[in-house]
Amino acid sequence: MLGVAMVPRTFATAPCRKGARHDCDNARVPARHLYVHVPFCAHRCGYCDFVTVTGHDDRHAAYVAAVLTELRLRGGALDPAPDTVYVGGGTPSLLGANLLARLLDALPPAAERTVECNPESVTAALAATLGARDIRVSLGAQTFQAPLLSVLERQATPADVTTAVDLLRAAGVRNLSLDLIHGIPGQDDAALDADLDALIALEPDHCSVYELEAKPGTRFTHHHRAALDAQAERLEGHYERVIERLEAAGYRWYEAASFERGDAWSRHNSAYWRGRDYLGVGIGAVSTLGDERRTNGPRLAAYLAALAAGSEPPGTVEGLDDATRVRERLILGLRLAEGVEHAAVADVIDDAALAALVAHGVAREDGGRILLEKRGRHLAHDIAARLLRDA
Ligand SMILES: C[S@@+](CC[C@H](N)C(=O)[O-])C[C@H]1O[C@@H](n2cnc3c(N)ncnc32)[C@H](O)[C@@H]1O
Ligand code: SF4
Repeated sequence: MLGVAMVPRTFATAPCRKGARHDCDNARVPARHLYVHVPFCAHRCGYCDFVTVTGHDDRHAAYVAAVLTELRLRGGALDPAPDTVYVGGGTPSLLGANLLARLLDALPPAAERTVECNPESVTAALAATLGARDIRVSLGAQTFQAPLLSVLERQATPADVTTAVDLLRAAGVRNLSLDLIHGIPGQDDAALDADLDALIALEPDHCSVYELEAKPGTRFTHHHRAALDAQAERLEGHYERVIERLEAAGYRWYEAASFERGDAWSRHNSAYWRGRDYLGVGIGAVSTLGDERRTNGPRLAAYLAALAAGSEPPGTVEGLDDATRVRERLILGLRLAEGVEHAAVADVIDDAALAALVAHGVAREDGGRILLEKRGRHLAHDIAARLLRDA
């Protein structure tokens, strides 16, 4: 990564080094996907590794203003009519109804606009703000078992999740996604099934069930080390159980951790998995734009100061060559049920490794695409590593 002094730039930059198969070309196409990071959280959950800020409630309005300034400064990188806008966190719902409305009304319209919410901060007024704007809501339930919520150090109770779902539906939210986590220390087969029962009973349009990622060296990992080790034995079985139960309930598995019904697949996240360009604004936000990846710095004070002065926020920019983008396309594309177009990744894969994976029944080729077989799904990352030819 290169540290760079950020200055406002237009978006006409260096051409690709060779015939790129991504969104970048010589006249660089503006991104069609916008991510807005809202870092504020009421408290920090033990397992969380996202860029978050606790406290500083008095800075919420200044932050929203700063994000909109950043969007004006860097907006040349974004199509004026993007396909998707995703407001993630942190806890965007912590902004409250009025400030969230101000933010949403200043963001570009898009066919899919998503806001992440924490159950305990969904009020009737917040739900009305979201419902009136036809916002897709992604609600973090994580688990419906009170003891497991306390292992995760969550603030919401199981009842908060149900109440939030009721409020959102009553306010007209038509596209609702719920997040669960599996692999939580102490989560046995019965607890997983109880979570899946509770999720299915709420009938979300979409759900994501993530395997808990416990970062080495964190207090959480240290504290739960023995239970996490025990949990590792169950992960594959739990993953298969999640897919089996959700498919039986009418959901389509379309990405490693994502399920939908009624055409409610996430257009925004799918753009990441398909290797599309996107603009990210806010602290810690990442942008992938043609031949560069920019990561905004994580510090709130530095971000607010830069934007108040009318400058782009501090951050780093890394050059992305075509081979890097194609490798990323393979790694992400293998997570998708639709797989990845063979021709798009042919330059980076080892044909003998592909033939061996097909012979072992973990991958297949179909209609010019490489896809994972059922038994390869839990191993998507390892399979991608095996497929990648040494650079
Ligand atoms: C950006 S996060 C947070 C959204 C929201 N603040 C919340 O806590 O519900 C979006 C989702 O990522 C998942 N997630 C966060 N940290 C995770 C971790 N360490 N391992 C697995 N999933 C995680 C959670 O399911 C969460 O709902
Ligand atoms: S509320 Fe969400 S973003 Fe905030 S610390 Fe907890 S998991 Fe992380």
